Amino acid sequence: METVVSGIRSTGNLHLGNYFGALKNFLKMQKENNCFFFIADYHSLTTHPKPADLHANIKQVLSEYLACGIDPEAATVYIQSDVPEVTELYLLLNMNAYVGELERTVSFKEKIRKQPDNINAGLLTYPVLMAADIIIHRAGKVPVGQDQAQHLEMTRRFARRFNSMYGVDYFPEPDAYNFGKKLVKIPGLDGSGKMGKSEGNGIFLADPPGEIRKKIMRAVTDTGPVTPGGKPSVPVENLFTIMSVVSDPSTVEYFREQHSLGVIRYGDMKKQLAEDIIKITEPVRERINRISSDNAYLAKVVAEGAEKARESASRTIREVREIIGYRPF
Ligand code: TRP
Repeated sequence: METVVSGIRSTGNLHLGNYFGALKNFLKMQKENNCFFFIADYHSLTTHPKPADLHANIKQVLSEYLACGIDPEAATVYIQSDVPEVTELYLLLNMNAYVGELERTVSFKEKIRKQPDNINAGLLTYPVLMAADIIIHRAGKVPVGQDQAQHLEMTRRFARRFNSMYGVDYFPEPDAYNFGKKLVKIPGLDGSGKMGKSEGNGIFLADPPGEIRKKIMRAVTDTGPVTPGGKPSVPVENLFTIMSVVSDPSTVEYFREQHSLGVIRYGDMKKQLAEDIIKITEPVRERINRISSDNAYLAKVVAEGAEKARESASRTIREVREIIGYRPF
């Protein structure tokens, strides 16, 4: 059984792309491994959220993951800032992280461009905090996408450096969790690329039905006319892709046929698509709302999660301190 760690962005409201992609894998992982899933709320301070937003975001994201089936009995679910041991390891790792390598990180360079008025030291050391998150549980696997590959590579380097610096074989070098070949990619509604949070092209699980209908009706298609036998354009093919995960196969087949006959009405297709999406998201949205209004339940989940996470984290800190040379008198 592998130890798996995954950090969840505290502003990352779940959309259909997450639901049919990463989330399915989380649900599988939590049954098969020793999983630590946490909300990365320290990391979110690199963009200076307001106190009320910070708490509301954490609560919303936690509720969404729980509503989708992340199970606090199966996995250790916690809030990063509830585990202060992480910050101690972060401090210790910072002593062996070099400013040059941190400055060369792609995500840091992007942030400098995006928020030139707020280039704080937390941004620079973001990968060190992420490494601390992972190796605090001495994890072997991290389920991350391509956008986090460099951060994971740095985690491996920091772990390796610690080991060689102190002549120990203490931290494993974590690998990316391999999901196998088929990670479903859900496209966005803007005609190109995949569904994302910041792209403004997504359907969120917490969107009410009216919002979903509006978004789908506005989705990019093409202006036609459709020539009989012609292939769907990229934006239309994207809608078919979404349809293939939410609708009945016979529905997809019907609209495919309409398209190839050259008589398709995108308005009809969109109406059907919106209703089929709503059929899936509505029960999830109800669960999200129920959970997020149940403070007693959420409080219990995070308290138990923090306790389990701290048990694992404090063991590591104790051993790390000893390795580094801190000893009791
Ligand atoms: N950087 C990750 C992201 O933006 C979030 C994250 C923080 C993370 N700490 C982590 C992911 C530890 C995996 C493991 O998505």
